[in-house]
Amino acid sequence: MRLYINVDHIATVRQARGTDEPDPVRAAVLAELGGADGITVHLREDRRHIQTRDVDLLMRTVRTGVNLEIAASSPMVELAADWRPAAVTLVPERREEITTEGGLALTGSGRARAAEAVSRLQAEGVRTSLFIDPDSNSVRAAAEIGADAIELHTGEYANSETPHARRDAVQRLADTADLAAGLGLSVHAGHGLTYENVTPVAGIGPVEELNIGHTIVSRAVFTGLERAVREMKEIVLRARGS
Ligand code: PXP
Repeated sequence: MRLYINVDHIATVRQARGTDEPDPVRAAVLAELGGADGITVHLREDRRHIQTRDVDLLMRTVRTGVNLEIAASSPMVELAADWRPAAVTLVPERREEITTEGGLALTGSGRARAAEAVSRLQAEGVRTSLFIDPDSNSVRAAAEIGADAIELHTGEYANSETPHARRDAVQRLADTADLAAGLGLSVHAGHGLTYENVTPVAGIGPVEELNIGHTIVSRAVFTGLERAVREMKEIVLRARGS
């Protein structure tokens, strides 16, 4: 099982001030030291967190591999084709959403766009994954398009409010993971996974990669805050000779 760490929300904090800290590239190095198997970033069309500069630097810094999440639009696909990261995950994008709310719609023009993006990226040697909801039609469409992998959207599982709903959601993830693996697709999963809810998803046999971001950045704030305050206090007291 590979654990890819999404460092988007390090950039969210930076963008809130428009300064140069905290830097997602430094975060990526620390994540690798902590055992990350790869670094995931979502370069949104509106550049709300990760910037082009970040991906440029990550491509030169990350030793494990960059999984670049992008919309399947031609300008984004051309950027990714130039960078040639270890993997690209195509995701749906709506400007008004807070985070990626659902999987790709692999019907009609959405399917055609995804197919075009997959073949363009594969021509550059980039492994390409499609972020989809855990439903069999989407899995079959992903296989027909020729994607290398799917990433199952775990948001519905993460948001389920009762144990019953949660069990159903895990079962759906497990069933679609089996179907996908049977069709020769690599299976990834992510979105909304936390320290509390990750275990059942990590236990699904065919799932070989998890992409996790928000909960790890959130935890890091608290595991690091005490030391951060201590360091500032030392500097302030030293300035007063005490
Ligand atoms: N996978 C995909 C495709 C995503 O879009 C995101 C969120 O950017 C994640 C995984 C990580 O989700 P979270 O930040 O909730 O862990």
